[in-house]
Amino acid sequence: MYDEALHGKDHYEVDRRANAVLYEGIGEASVRNTALENRRFLGRAVRYLAAECGIRQFLDIGSGLPTMRNTHQIAQEADPDARVVYVDYDPIVAVHGRALLANKQTRIVTADMRDPESILDHEDTRDLIDFGRPVAVLFVAVFHFITREEDPAGIVSAFRARSAPGSYVAISHLTSDGTPAEEQRAWEAAFEGATSPLVFRGEGEIRALFGGYDLVSPGLVRPWQWHPSDDGSPETTSLFGAVGRLGAS
Ligand SMILES: C[S@@+](CC[C@H](N)C(=O)[O-])C[C@H]1O[C@@H](n2cnc3c(N)ncnc32)[C@H](O)[C@@H]1O
Repeated sequence: MYDEALHGKDHYEVDRRANAVLYEGIGEASVRNTALENRRFLGRAVRYLAAECGIRQFLDIGSGLPTMRNTHQIAQEADPDARVVYVDYDPIVAVHGRALLANKQTRIVTADMRDPESILDHEDTRDLIDFGRPVAVLFVAVFHFITREEDPAGIVSAFRARSAPGSYVAISHLTSDGTPAEEQRAWEAAFEGATSPLVFRGEGEIRALFGGYDLVSPGLVRPWQWHPSDDGSPETTSLFGAVGRLGAS
């Protein structure tokens, strides 16, 4: 669905049908703008982490299909040796990704973030990521697929517990603060038959996901306000995003 909203090439009839429901309920431009704003945030966050914070290892959780400007392409502009492990529970991601992301510093792991150990202890993760050194864990536009019962903060803390001081986390999330109730209902309806329900969270609940990390400036903001650049990011009020740094314990 996300790839279709970004005008990608890798989507199926079922995705297009689900997006048609979204476009009907919310407006096509608004949905596409939200997807693009999110993707631009991912790009700026990775560039910041690689170029300004010296991060050379990334775990991109809920990475989705390879599409415009993928994490390893941005990170490897800063350092061709930067390592990226992409993780998604959708096996289609690995099928498309293995062909497109062939690169010895890049792996694709098919795993479910609700079982963090299956990612942290995966042989590809262990091969590529040295948890004794700082790592950036990216959860971009994925926590809204995790219900409250599935303990989203517990998922972040499982990754934090393995991360060295000086590590980072980046999160973006659909929010109920700023999204009119009828739009929220249209988003939720479009995901009713999907693999996961969609869970909107308020600003406070999203901020709580960063527990144990210090938010880097400008804190938790609309993604287009986070280190804005002239990358053509649309300005919506559907999302929040931030990057947090793990200090010494
Ligand atoms: C909206 S896409 C985001 C893609 C990318 N992170 C970005 O922001 O551009 C969300 C992705 O998260 C994946 N996902 C959802 N729940 C997941 C879970 N429990 N474990 C792993 N991946 C998950 C979906 O399969 C989908 O590919």
